Amino acid sequence: LTIYIPRDAAALSLGAEKVAKSVAQEIAKRGLDARIVRNGSRGMFWLEPLVEVEIGGKRIGYGPVKVKDVSGLFDAGLAEGCEHPLCLGEVENLPFLKEQTRLTFARCGITDPLSLHDYEAHGGLKGLRRAIGIAASDIVKEVTDSGLRGRGGAGFPTGIKWKTVLDAPGERKYIVCNADEGDSGTFADRMIMEGDPFVLIEGMVIAGLATGATKGFVYTRSEYPHAIAAMTEAVEVARKAGILGASVLGSGKAFDMEIRTGAGAYVCGEETALLNSLEGKRGVVRAKPPLPAHKGLFDCPTVINNVISLASVPVIMDKGAAFYRDFGMGRSRGTIPLQIAGNVKHGGLYETAFGLSLGDIVDRIGGGTASGRPVKAVQVGGPLGAYFPRALFDTPFDYEAFAAKDGLIGHAGLVVFDDTADMLKQARFAMEFCAVESCGKCTPCRIGSTRGVETADKIARGIEPEKNKELLADLCNTMKFGSLCALGGFTPYPVMSAMTHFPEDFSPAPLIEAAE
Ligand code: NAI
Ligand code: SF4
Repeated sequence: LTIYIPRDAAALSLGAEKVAKSVAQEIAKRGLDARIVRNGSRGMFWLEPLVEVEIGGKRIGYGPVKVKDVSGLFDAGLAEGCEHPLCLGEVENLPFLKEQTRLTFARCGITDPLSLHDYEAHGGLKGLRRAIGIAASDIVKEVTDSGLRGRGGAGFPTGIKWKTVLDAPGERKYIVCNADEGDSGTFADRMIMEGDPFVLIEGMVIAGLATGATKGFVYTRSEYPHAIAAMTEAVEVARKAGILGASVLGSGKAFDMEIRTGAGAYVCGEETALLNSLEGKRGVVRAKPPLPAHKGLFDCPTVINNVISLASVPVIMDKGAAFYRDFGMGRSRGTIPLQIAGNVKHGGLYETAFGLSLGDIVDRIGGGTASGRPVKAVQVGGPLGAYFPRALFDTPFDYEAFAAKDGLIGHAGLVVFDDTADMLKQARFAMEFCAVESCGKCTPCRIGSTRGVETADKIARGIEPEKNKELLADLCNTMKFGSLCALGGFTPYPVMSAMTHFPEDFSPAPLIEAAE
């Protein structure tokens, strides 16, 4: 009997560690022949801790399990199946999972994240073995043909970035994985690092083979201790197995990597600030050009890719570019791990081909709000993403479709708000966030964000609201076109979308003292 209890941070925060201890005690007390595997999360957070029992090749789920439920689960004959009110039946058949297209997250929640044996048994290393046997330019071509675009948010074609680095002269080149997942409501990078770390390692090695880089760094955040621990251990395992080191799986091609931890600044997720931080400098944005692909880490040609971009490469190399690009719509090819969060009934990770409508994601998959009140807005793409009203719920999840509606899909985080949300407060929050996180290098962001907070406050207090709304829009325009990086440049998205789609929240009743 095998019992799976997640080691993912989301499950741990909901008590998975205590549940695992209690299950272990129950097994010992009852003298059962059972083992516990600490898997990653399936991404259905409302069911965490989700305990799965493998019976006759099927995995029966129970959740959300609390310590007080554990002995009752065993009494009810946990091993025999659905006798308990927490029993969910076969996990693979739960609609939230069944309707997904899990390519990047194929193993997440299924395997033991640190078992290389499990990884290979579930299709791992096939992509790398194929990449080893072909020329660097052919790997780049395969990734280009797959249509994969940067999953960190900007959507730049990964293959073109790799080709720039492959073609750049330089004796030393680097692969840097941006795992500084800072967007509100996002957790896909963390889930992969905790639930299937070898897929990221495999993706980075393939990126190294494709571009001639021999060293990689994963730059992640100090707020992700479990991901750091899992990645560090997985790197050790991979090194011992010859996946990393002087002779990657006997090919004679070297690649090694390290895990580095940032100190919590949002701006260090911006690629050039990240490079500065990695070099031990203050995390301040560098002007581009030069692009990191030409002059990046320690002035060497550098690939900087998000975790999900790199983790999507093994399946592309294994199944081929045509297989991957067959999913999706328009120029958005393949799958995207949607991260559904905020005031939502069924929060979690949902990997699917591009193209689902926003309404379908929020209402059907997310099940509407957790509060049961009507959905008012969804912020898509992190704290720099636009707020979408119900009127735009027919927008398909696609880079270009969102841009056409003055939004962005970013790292595919969706934060749901009900009708009690005050969009003027949300606009103020965007400006405040920018003021707090600004690196201070350029004026529109450094000063504009503080003036933005003050202006939003004036509108809230009913002080010359029309004039101040105009001023706020003008400020947004200056920040959008005058900022050096996306932090200052994209803060106008949440502010302007809140003003455009929810004008009623920007016309508060004048204060009594103002009226007097
Ligand atoms: P960008 O559009 O400036 O660049 C995208 C990428 O393409 C960069 O890596 C850049 O170096 C590369 N690139 C551009 N032209 C190239 C060329 N000709 N050859 C090779 N490489 C080239 O966007 P940026 O500033 O890197 O990212 C902004 C995005 O970051 C936003 O869309 C936002 O959604 C996202 N973001 C994500 C966060 C997260 O937590 N994942 C947090 C904050 C922002
Ligand atoms: Fe720094 Fe803000 Fe300018 Fe970006 S926009 S370089 S975070 S001051």
